[in-house]
Amino acid sequence: MSLLILGAGPLQQQAYIRAKQRNIKTIGIDKDPHAIAFQHAHENYVIDICDTEGVLDVARARQVTAILTLCTDLAVLTAAQVAKQLNLPGLTTDTAKKSRHKGLMRDALNTAQVPIPNYRRTGDFAQAQKAADAIGLPVILKPTTSSGSRGVNVVCDMYELEHAFVFAQKYSEDQEVLVEQLIHGPEVSVETLSFNHDHHVIQITDKTTSLEPHFVELGHVQPTLLSTPEQSAVITVTKNALNALGCTYGASHTEIKLQEGTPYIMEVGARLGGDYITTDLVPLSTGVSMVDAVIDLALGKTPQLQSTKNQAAAICYIQAPPGTVQAVSGVFENFPYLMRAELFVQQGDSVRALQSSHHRAGYVICTGDTPSQAKRHAWQAAQSITIHVN
Ligand SMILES: Nc1ncnc2c1ncn2[C@@H]1O[C@H](COP(=O)(O)OP(=O)(O)O)[C@@H](O)[C@H]1O
Ligand SMILES: [Mg+2]
Repeated sequence: MSLLILGAGPLQQQAYIRAKQRNIKTIGIDKDPHAIAFQHAHENYVIDICDTEGVLDVARARQVTAILTLCTDLAVLTAAQVAKQLNLPGLTTDTAKKSRHKGLMRDALNTAQVPIPNYRRTGDFAQAQKAADAIGLPVILKPTTSSGSRGVNVVCDMYELEHAFVFAQKYSEDQEVLVEQLIHGPEVSVETLSFNHDHHVIQITDKTTSLEPHFVELGHVQPTLLSTPEQSAVITVTKNALNALGCTYGASHTEIKLQEGTPYIMEVGARLGGDYITTDLVPLSTGVSMVDAVIDLALGKTPQLQSTKNQAAAICYIQAPPGTVQAVSGVFENFPYLMRAELFVQQGDSVRALQSSHHRAGYVICTGDTPSQAKRHAWQAAQSITIHVN
């Protein structure tokens, strides 16, 4: 039994660690020879996770019996293509393509009449102007292929459109940009596992993002504080979206905004939710290991999804003003509810203005008896660190 894991960055580590604990041989792939999770693998190969032929060569040579990625969106299509070639469990390549491209995703959801913002796809600025006119300001522009809120920008005035278009296009692999109706309201993500013709909702996460124009994710809390009817509506829309995209295998992470109680799909990731939502918050709040479940599904086994906990958990991202870090003061106190904390910056590093998830300075994960308490704990712990910049 050997498991090929695509990506060996920080968010993939749990796959390697759990597989090792379960005596499953792991083969790691990452283009970075110093990728952090390589230390836990039995064998490593320095290959780009988007290089399907390269990954396929390793998979064939090592006769792997399973392939997966945890949270790395970039690896979803490669995993599907390799699984297809080797007849292993995986997503269809059609579903993987739709999940990787926000334009294809919007079209599939639109055809299936799943509620989404009014949208247009274009690589041409003149068409983007027409789209913004037709949809009506304010609109949001975003790249069709990106993540972490990179290239996302709200436009409230036509004068801002060109800048936002160029900004979004910069991050789009195929130069295509989505022009969308701006949905106002709270945001959640739905963490699911799909197998045997069923979608299992493991948790719903409340999300906090920075304000317009960039909507960078600043924190996540579980379980959600949405009302029971709102949760039902969110679950129905999620399952409809997963069916429309063909996400019938493995983990998914569906982001939704509710406007006046009506859920609109922001996007669906055909993989586990990142930002430690599924690797850390879900086990803390429910006791379910979605990582184990993803490994089980890759191995062709039925996962154990029984919830054993009913606790609240939160992650709060640490922010710093833009500039060069002069000093970091304060320490994370050893509170019993502090589960994990990390700082990404140190003296001498430069911090950029918060335009995407990549510009966050660290994070704190805490538990609590209620979502509000977990959130407060995480925020307080984050406040104990000050990053001085000039
Ligand atoms: N049409 C929209 N209306 C309102 N907010 C949106 C819309 N599209 C995106 N957003 C906000 O921007 C964030 C990032 O957009 P998203 O499509 O999820 O891109 P990414 O792949 O970079 O996460 C979303 O989580 C949401 O907060
Ligand atoms: Mg998103």
